[in-house]
Amino acid sequence: MQFLITIKFESIFLHIIYLIFFLLKTKNSYILGIESSCDDTSASVISNGKVLSNIIANQEVHAKYGGVVPELASRAHQQNIVPVIQQALKQANIDKKQLSAIAFTRGPGLMGSLLVGTSFAKSLALGLQIPLIDVNHMQAHILAHFIEEENSKKPTFPFICLTISGGHTQIVKVSNYFDMKVLGETIDDAVGEAFDKSAKILGLPYPGGPLIDKYAQKGNPKAFPFTKPKVGSLDFSFSGLKTAILYFIQKKVKENPHFIKENLHDICASIQHTIVEILMDKLKNAVKQTGIKQIAIAGGVSANSEIRKRLQLAQKHWGWQTFIPKFEYTTDNAAMIAIVGYLKFLNADFSDVSVTAKARLKVTE
Ligand code: KG4
Ligand code: ZN
Repeated sequence: MQFLITIKFESIFLHIIYLIFFLLKTKNSYILGIESSCDDTSASVISNGKVLSNIIANQEVHAKYGGVVPELASRAHQQNIVPVIQQALKQANIDKKQLSAIAFTRGPGLMGSLLVGTSFAKSLALGLQIPLIDVNHMQAHILAHFIEEENSKKPTFPFICLTISGGHTQIVKVSNYFDMKVLGETIDDAVGEAFDKSAKILGLPYPGGPLIDKYAQKGNPKAFPFTKPKVGSLDFSFSGLKTAILYFIQKKVKENPHFIKENLHDICASIQHTIVEILMDKLKNAVKQTGIKQIAIAGGVSANSEIRKRLQLAQKHWGWQTFIPKFEYTTDNAAMIAIVGYLKFLNADFSDVSVTAKARLKVTE
């Protein structure tokens, strides 16, 4: 009996020691996040959920091609990755030897771009003999809401997230950090593509989304009504709208060659209004179907001023609780990768060095 009590006591004692060690380790953890899925090379250091640095090198090289050129993107990542990481460590005021783990984007994204971040993260983790953590880029857009920020409120589970980016448009039910279910998604173009392709029709450079937003500020959103697509209850379609805009512009320019220049603000406001109406209609359906009124937005297009405004109004008028990310965590950035790294680090959810990049990684993987 005495023997058994001693064993039990020793085991509890050991567990307490392990717990203290783990708490001490995680208390002052430094996670380096590396993002290289598309055309932004980014590195960020997060300590206990707080961002110490978030460096982003945009690749100007694609602007003249009207879209991202994969081969040029991976080459630019190779050139940028070392200086960007060095800058992130410098701004965080830490040495690489103080890092607790390396988190990197495994997918989805452009294979050549993903490979640069993946191989760099692996080598660095091996060299420093610290854990490697793979991160799903789409989950990261959503989980950016859990970055520790002063005066920011975080969603509680379950919540609905509208993920709107250059490559994705999804309504996701988030039941826990890593328990997500896609309720609806685009059947063709992503919403970011709808913005960028419309901008291209107007002769604006890539990426055109922010420019449409800028010119829309001074325009009349009802000037040119475009028809909204009719697709399944929570699914989206944007390719028909793009074609409608193209035919409309071609017809108007035939009548008046200066039509775009003379009406740029109204055209942009009308396009933006139609796109945001489509998004809001689907969100209303999602709330009706699930009964969940906590609504978050994520991804590059969540930088859009109109969708941000409409969500604030929904909070006021429909009793939704809305969560709008800080501007710098909307478009691709490594802080969102590092926060997921931190959440996985707390659960000792590490990756094997044999992990590979996956271009078509699903949000649920
Ligand atoms: O999330 P993100 O940075 O990259 C992807 O993972 O795709 O999203 C980029 C997309 C681009 O299509 C860009 O035009 C769009 O986000 N975007 C915007 C705005 N800012 C960025 N679209 C509309 N309004 C904006 N203010
Ligand atoms: Zn993204």
